[in-house]
Amino acid sequence: MIKKTILALSIAASGAAFAQVSVTIDAAKPGPVISKNIYGQFAEHLGTGIYEGMWVGTDSKIPNTKGWRNDVVGALKDMHVPLVRWPGGCFADEYHWRDGVGPRAQRPVKVNTNWGGVEESNAVGTHEFFDLAELLGAEVYVNGNLGTGSAQEMSEWVEYMTSDSKSTLAEMRRKNGRDKPWKVDYFAVGNEAWGCGGEMSPEHYTQLYKTTTAFLKAPPANRPKFIASGGNDSDTKWTDSLSKVKSNISGISFHYYTIPTGVWEKKGAATGFAEDQWISTMKNTLKMDDFIRKNTEVMDKNDPQKKIGFLVDEWGTWYDVEPGTNAGFLYQQNSLRDAVVAALNFNIFHAHADRVRMTNIAQMVNVLQAMILTDKDKMLLTPTYHAYKMYVPFQDATSLPLTISNNGAYSMGKTTVPQVSASAAKAKDGKIYVALVNTNPNKPVDVTVNLSGAKAGKLNGQVLTAAAMDAHNTFANPEAVKPAPFSATASGGKVVVKLPAKSVVVAAVE
Ligand code: AHR
Repeated sequence: MIKKTILALSIAASGAAFAQVSVTIDAAKPGPVISKNIYGQFAEHLGTGIYEGMWVGTDSKIPNTKGWRNDVVGALKDMHVPLVRWPGGCFADEYHWRDGVGPRAQRPVKVNTNWGGVEESNAVGTHEFFDLAELLGAEVYVNGNLGTGSAQEMSEWVEYMTSDSKSTLAEMRRKNGRDKPWKVDYFAVGNEAWGCGGEMSPEHYTQLYKTTTAFLKAPPANRPKFIASGGNDSDTKWTDSLSKVKSNISGISFHYYTIPTGVWEKKGAATGFAEDQWISTMKNTLKMDDFIRKNTEVMDKNDPQKKIGFLVDEWGTWYDVEPGTNAGFLYQQNSLRDAVVAALNFNIFHAHADRVRMTNIAQMVNVLQAMILTDKDKMLLTPTYHAYKMYVPFQDATSLPLTISNNGAYSMGKTTVPQVSASAAKAKDGKIYVALVNTNPNKPVDVTVNLSGAKAGKLNGQVLTAAAMDAHNTFANPEAVKPAPFSATASGGKVVVKLPAKSVVVAAVE
């Protein structure tokens, strides 16, 4: 009996060694390229996302270039924003592009009926948006108005932006200050056609999409990639209908927001939450993987040559708005939890890089899961910003398959999620990068990183973590959460990463 107990104790004591999580990267089997546009952004005419947050106008005392504030643009450039989607969202289906061109003082003032009923000055229109994209060095994704617009209005907008002829619309663009046509990388026909975009059925929208795109003409060398508005969960009806379209379609969009409670009416707070809402947020955000899998399985049947991309052009956390702010402005704080959510989603997107060729987090500044928050002339970088910047080496990198063995579970009550999430890729600088996430807010975990076919000497990179689950940056303390240098060296032929609780690590494997 005593012997048995000693045996049991010694097994338990050495159990940690057996149960160690290990990540094995297969560098000899490169997968698809992770499009840089997976790190795309979304800027809607919503709250202070554009006005105040980015656009202050040319006469502002806040230093700006062509009306766009220098501090915000500089920070966004530092995180290598590859692409921006504009002008909505729900706003897109009530936006008439002619309202936003010509002398700003003469542009009509409209009511933003979707977002707070505030006045929309139309100060930011097509020319201003392209100025922003040029300042950022980003590709553009313009969302057309199907809901209250028409095929004619959309085709004229495409002509205005892309024509190099002497047509009246191209000449109007020149008169408004832009000689050469712009490159419109992507153009979408409507947004959330199942909801704010017109409450349509998949079949009705699919027919409208085909009819509309038949009239969207652009010079062959300057033709945007056309995007259809798709679904928002594991129901694959939208994807099924749209992936049968044979021409004028480069992508089907998909929207999924992470809500801690899963209940729209009471979503949960951005900060000051308890652990049950930490784990439910992890659980809910990881559903993204299943949604992508189910939808892309349908695409694989209808489009086996993978001509059409699955574009998650709205995603991120959606909390109750900050107390005292306009409910229509969707302003929320952003904590370490958001950075972990972002990293989990990046790892999911990388794993589906063959189809997921673009995503756009909602939204870039001051709205939902933002990169930057502003208060008059001040700005701060959120934990989500830092996650994006840490993952820059993954932009246009070649994905590498990996296996996670002995992954632990992080549980609370009846909810369980995997403790470690990982992704690896060979970056454009020739180095292999690994990204590791620990979802457990209480326990660090040792992760052995192996490179099959080669020896990993050490890891060098950055870690993002903090003492509290809801640690966040404020205007009084803007650097409470920021990345720190991270390294791990080999011992006994393997690299063991000590992954702190609730953390994200991105490191080069050397
Ligand atoms: O990102 C906020 C809103 O969420 C978008 O306007 C809409 O498309 C979605 O419902």
